[in-house]
Amino acid sequence: MAVCSRERLTEQTIVCVNVAGLGVLIVQDGETIYACERACPHEQADLSLGRVADRRLHCPRHLAWFDLADGSMSPGWPSRGLRRYPARESDAQIWVDAQAIVPK
Ligand code: FES
Repeated sequence: MAVCSRERLTEQTIVCVNVAGLGVLIVQDGETIYACERACPHEQADLSLGRVADRRLHCPRHLAWFDLADGSMSPGWPSRGLRRYPARESDAQIWVDAQAIVPK
C-alpha cells in the first residue's frame, strides 16, 4: 500500500505512518528507504523522535541503535531486534508491504 509521497520523505528523514492501526516509520538514509516498527523493542520509546545516521536508527530514550539493514540492536541490550518491512519507491510514492506488517 502507498503510505506517503516521495516528496514528504525528502522533506523529513523519518515519516510516521499508520498501517492497519500499527505505527510504522519510513526512514531514508542516503539513497535507501527502510520501513520499520515505530515503538522501540526495548521500552517502546517513539523511534520517530530518534535520529538516523550511517544506516542506524538511534533510539531517543536510551540511545541504543538499530541497524536498519538487518534490524540488529547495538551490543549489550536485552532486547530483540527491530522489525523491518519491505518498502520501495514507485510513481512518486513510498509503498510498504502491508501484509508483512499485519499478516492475514
Ligand atoms: S527504549 Fe529504546 S533503547 Fe530503551
